Amino acid sequence: MTFKNLLYTVENRVATITINRPDKLNALNKETVQEIGAAVQTGLADQQVFAMVITGSGSKSFVEGADITEFLGLSTEQGQALAKAGHDVFKQIETASKPIIAAVNGFALGGGCELAMACHLRYASENARFGQPEVNLGLIAGYGGTQRLTQLVGKAKSMEMHLTADTLTAQQALELGLVNGVVPQEQLIPKVHEVIEKMKTKAPLALAGVIASINAYYEPGANGFETELVEFGRCFNTQDLKEGTAAFLEKRKPNFTGN
Ligand code: COA
Repeated sequence: MTFKNLLYTVENRVATITINRPDKLNALNKETVQEIGAAVQTGLADQQVFAMVITGSGSKSFVEGADITEFLGLSTEQGQALAKAGHDVFKQIETASKPIIAAVNGFALGGGCELAMACHLRYASENARFGQPEVNLGLIAGYGGTQRLTQLVGKAKSMEMHLTADTLTAQQALELGLVNGVVPQEQLIPKVHEVIEKMKTKAPLALAGVIASINAYYEPGANGFETELVEFGRCFNTQDLKEGTAAFLEKRKPNFTGN
């Protein structure tokens, strides 16, 4: 699969989506957002793909934000449509049935922070910076940042970050629970792969059930406990539950197939 603004590769059952606009610090223009949606769709449809990684090209920036040049001259309706397109793609990431991990290799500002937050897990290099600086431009976050940052770090800190445009270092992001780990730049991709290797030993449909159930906690109108009941019950209709329980009783490693 080839894209204009992304690199998409599959290796060892891991699809890596690399935002590739280094001369613009990987800023997200409309086309890139659409391509991310298409790349995620490709990874979800590919039986060979177990998990996905989203990262940025180069060592300076993950994604530096939405492409500011596209904001010029938009009407209210066009502004909303721009945000809606981002909402839809980021929701697709958040609700994906396969684990999607952000490897945050530098600036994750504005839409970059929002893209990372839509992923299921986030690992950051030591030089990563997180922030929602849209108020500097006369804007607010529009790709879900007011909601997901509040979910991840709480109302007070989220308010502070959105209202002041202050950025967090990777270490501060770790302390606030915004990221799952911080490592030196050269260890970032190996660290993410190490986490994926661990998940590969688990039952894929159970992982999908975890994602759906935890997401339901944050879904307005959804009943997370009810979702957990449904997902728990669904596991009983899988080969993998039979395999997992048999392997435990036979004191051997399970061989999960995702069925
Ligand atoms: N949209 C469009 N272009 C962008 C961009 C964005 N969000 N972020 C960076 N670029 C472009 C710059 O215009 C510049 O292009 P040029 O070389 O053609 O002039 C290039 O990427 C490099 O950026 P530059 O600002 O020169 O890099 P820097 O290292 O001096 O500064 C930042 C890095 C992150 C401090 C600075 O780019 C910045 O503050 N950006 C705005 C962050 C922001 O508000 N993001 C939220 C957007 S909603």
